[in-house]
Amino acid sequence: MGLVYPLPSARTARSAKEINLENCLGKTVLVIGGGGREHAIVDALSRSPQVSMIYCAPGNAGIGEQAINVPLKDTDVEGLKAFALENQVDLTVVGPEAALAAGIVDAFRAAGLAIFGHTQAATAIESSKEFAKELMAKYGIPTAAYRSFSEYEEALSYVSARPFPAVLKYDGLAAGKGVVIAQDLDEARRALADMLLDHSFGEGRVVVEDYLTGPEFSFLCFVDGAHVYPMPLSQDHKRAYDGDKGPNTGGMGAYTGLPFITPEDREFAYREIMCKAASAMVAEGMPLSGVLYGGLMKTPEGIKVIEFNARFGDPETEVVLPLLKSDIYDIFEGVATGREVEQPRWADGVTLGVVLASKGYPGHYQKGFDIKGLDKVDAQVYHMGTGIRDGRVFTNGGRVLMVVSGGTNLAEAREKVYHEISKIQCDNLFYRKDIAHIAFE
Ligand code: AMP
Ligand code: GLY
Repeated sequence: MGLVYPLPSARTARSAKEINLENCLGKTVLVIGGGGREHAIVDALSRSPQVSMIYCAPGNAGIGEQAINVPLKDTDVEGLKAFALENQVDLTVVGPEAALAAGIVDAFRAAGLAIFGHTQAATAIESSKEFAKELMAKYGIPTAAYRSFSEYEEALSYVSARPFPAVLKYDGLAAGKGVVIAQDLDEARRALADMLLDHSFGEGRVVVEDYLTGPEFSFLCFVDGAHVYPMPLSQDHKRAYDGDKGPNTGGMGAYTGLPFITPEDREFAYREIMCKAASAMVAEGMPLSGVLYGGLMKTPEGIKVIEFNARFGDPETEVVLPLLKSDIYDIFEGVATGREVEQPRWADGVTLGVVLASKGYPGHYQKGFDIKGLDKVDAQVYHMGTGIRDGRVFTNGGRVLMVVSGGTNLAEAREKVYHEISKIQCDNLFYRKDIAHIAFE
């Protein structure tokens, strides 16, 4: 084995029309969200022989080719529930954390609807940094030493007595903007005042933790209570520009096949971090029932947790799910209903994906630019922020497209991806040229 050209999805993905014609008696699925992550989920579902109908709310232009887009917001819990009931949806799959934090899983279950995602209580593993840190301390899961504060003066005096840089994290969902790495006391003072005196993000606490060093990576697992089914490891590239320079973004590219992770590292991360966290949540009375995402770092002292997320990562999902050989419906449905599932099987080889973003992202950017040449691309194209008008696809977000290819190794996947990207024409897109650079240094 080894060769993953074309990716399983590129080979067998079906359009919404084909799926519906083929099997009217199969399962109906509703996917919630409308980014590249949800496109990858819809694409994986389109390969399931059990699935005959896929809805996606709100979806996007690319998703619309493989599913029926439903114009409902991801946090419109009542609207989505009514839609699922009216359309006899067999299973709902939740992408974004906002929907989980809004309690969509609790509401669907109360209405007797099967749904893949964590309860509002269990989503605290992502939505509250303090909860996550306390859980890790209590159950011996390796992470940076920390303390948490609600008083500005107390926080400042603790930080003053610690080495710099200091890591300050606002305790709540802050759309990735709630973390400040303060290089000196002045910077720490400003950030703490912002968070605890001016309440720029809301009325929250601040977690202050030690600064760790080493390469970061993402470990996504399907989790049902204490059952943890690992996915291939991946690495995101959070900075906007080559050389890991520029502002933080939602992620500019990702790949699997991490050269710096040994089988022992992976085993340690699986047993001592992911399985322990799942068991800890069971012991705390809030079992997980969706994806647990470990944002991990390989430090000189071993692998430690930077953060947990309660959902698929974006752009990690777009490089991980194309490798899945098992029927994803079976996994989603098993986790949603508490049925033990078969260990998921994964293709050999690696994947690499590059995000095409609007010029100016993550700052101010314009939308509405035509995108041409997509039909010529011989790789997986996931839409992140696109719209369609009179059959013409246009840019409709900060991150717009992600092009993903497979290969026997990263050099092969990288060459293929950049070659295919060169076929895409648009006046307002940019992308990083150095995805997976750590493998080539
Ligand atoms: P978080 O929202 O917790 O993932 O933090 C965002 C980013 O800040 C992470 O991806 C890391 O790059 C960085 N970061 C967070 N915590 C630490 C830490 N303790 N040491 C070093 N870097 C960190
Ligand atoms: N790739 C970062 C995230 O999904 O949070």
